[in-house]
Amino acid sequence: MKICGFLLLLSLLSLCLDANPGIKVKITQKGLNFGMQLGTEFLKQRLKNTVFEDWHGLTWTYNYTVSNIRIQHVEFPRRSAFLIPGTGIHLQVNEASAIVTADWRFTSWVLRTSGKLIVYIRGIIISAIATVSQDEAGRPTLFLKTCSGSVDSIDIQLDESSRWLYRIFANFMERPLRNSFNLNLCPSINLEIQRFNAELKQHQIQTQVNSFAVIDYSLVNLPSISHTSFDLDFKGAVYSIVNETEPSFEPDSFILPMGDSMLYIGVSEYFFHSASLAYYTSGAFEVSTEKELSAYFNFTTETFNSIIPMVAYLHIGLCPVIMNLTVTAAPVISLQNDRFLLQFVGSMEVLKIQPNFTTHSMFTLNVTARTHVSLTIFEKNLIPTLCLDSFDLSLAHSSVGLFKASLLKNFMSYILQKGVIPSINVNLKDGIPLPILDTTILVNPVVTVHQGYLLISTDVRLKPAYIWEHNDLKGLEKMRTQ
Ligand SMILES: *[C@@H]1O[C@H](CO)[C@@H](O)[C@H](O)[C@H]1NC(C)=O
Ligand SMILES: *[C@@H]1O[C@H](CO)[C@@H](O)[C@H](O)[C@H]1NC(C)=O
Ligand SMILES: *[C@@H]1O[C@H](CO)[C@@H](O)[C@H](O)[C@H]1NC(C)=O
Ligand SMILES: *[C@@H]1O[C@H](CO)[C@@H](O)[C@H](O)[C@H]1NC(C)=O
Ligand SMILES: *[C@@H]1O[C@H](CO)[C@@H](O)[C@H](O)[C@H]1NC(C)=O
Ligand SMILES: *[C@@H]1O[C@H](CO)[C@@H](O)[C@H](O)[C@H]1NC(C)=O
Repeated sequence: MKICGFLLLLSLLSLCLDANPGIKVKITQKGLNFGMQLGTEFLKQRLKNTVFEDWHGLTWTYNYTVSNIRIQHVEFPRRSAFLIPGTGIHLQVNEASAIVTADWRFTSWVLRTSGKLIVYIRGIIISAIATVSQDEAGRPTLFLKTCSGSVDSIDIQLDESSRWLYRIFANFMERPLRNSFNLNLCPSINLEIQRFNAELKQHQIQTQVNSFAVIDYSLVNLPSISHTSFDLDFKGAVYSIVNETEPSFEPDSFILPMGDSMLYIGVSEYFFHSASLAYYTSGAFEVSTEKELSAYFNFTTETFNSIIPMVAYLHIGLCPVIMNLTVTAAPVISLQNDRFLLQFVGSMEVLKIQPNFTTHSMFTLNVTARTHVSLTIFEKNLIPTLCLDSFDLSLAHSSVGLFKASLLKNFMSYILQKGVIPSINVNLKDGIPLPILDTTILVNPVVTVHQGYLLISTDVRLKPAYIWEHNDLKGLEKMRTQ
């Protein structure tokens, strides 16, 4: 019932959308939890590498400086993120703690002393709401809408030799330190959000896939937030490198299902249609059998002697033969019932090379080849591989007399399977980059084909290069036992 209600809600929402997306991305609560974990890990990492500004205190009798302030350890034991429908993401951190080390120097008229100190900060609470919007270029951006933060306890410990100074020092340090913390919690969250936005800004709205195609990954609708998921609608159109005109067709609406994965990526039939057109326009399907393949197959008129009687009759001399295969329209895509189908229409002219090196057309076949596409995911790319299912032949033109095109069925099967399809697969091998962050990789992605769209259900994790070791506390232990 809940799911139905949700679907209903989504379909109602989609009625008010400006444009249907070519690609949809749905982030679930599980995905959000991962995002929260990621965010706090980044924050931890960042805090540990930050050297804070020195502190100075001054009265008429003495002055002090606290320098080399570093956060040695941070814990976010209780953190959560949940969705507020229509508004944003609520981030909650409870009972966070930190250990800070610093050098201090105290100067008065009668005394000069210095040492190290450790500050134990406990009970840090942060509650913030971030909203999601899009920038002028159509990238998602986060904004900190509300934020409050506080610190419960601050405990300052000086090293042994100067314990007697503790009272004076603690009195002067605790309050400003607490104030500083309270004041800086929300700005530091905001800074983190700005950094995340900056990272998103690095992503090109238009991504060049290879020498054939460009993908548009701008948002076509404002990100939408329900209480179960966070949804992004991308334009998801592919353009040819040589001619970036809008396709003449429009995407149909589709609704992503939801299970227990972190992320769902829906790629519409529209996306693949535009890709087919772009690759066709850029010549990715032009596999000139004339050059590469003819050399590989190395056929002669003799090859056809046994198949087509008239060839034997008319071309007694042995001549090399070339084949000129042309795909005559953008391949037709269809996604339905677990099948991703792609149909090519083309023609293949067979020409012989005469002793004086001029070519002479022997015959032309019209070819309709039906393939199915299997999809694999490598890193952040969706890679299609075509596999021949069946094909039809008809004789379009012949200078060697009429014959049944079906005589060439085996020959053509061989050419398609060994030559044409593998060459096209080479041109498609770069795949399609998916709209995910560079810092993440997909974990156990599952690709399924549905009526009108393709669904990738996946978990994500951080790339190994971005995982760091937890700062060990050895230095700190040494200091404590001094
Ligand atoms: C603070 O102490 C330092 C170190 O003795 C001294 O050089 C400096 O003049 C003092 N600053 C003030 C403002 O008294
Ligand atoms: C690009 O393609 C469109 C439609 O297919 C066509 O009208 C236009 O002339 C082409 N432009 C160029 C520069 O080839
Ligand atoms: C193709 O066949 C011709 C004669 O049949 C031979 O001379 C030539 O070396 C062959 N070329 C290749 C690339 O196999
Ligand atoms: C192969 O076909 C294309 C398109 O029909 C044509 O432009 C090209 O000249 C042909 N090549 C040969 C060797 O006939
Ligand atoms: C090449 O040879 C063919 C027959 O072998 C002939 O019909 C044609 O006219 C010749 N072309 C040239 C340019 O010599
Ligand atoms: C072959 O295809 C061309 C266009 O691609 C078409 O005009 C022609 O009628 C077709 N011939 C046959 C016999 O199917």
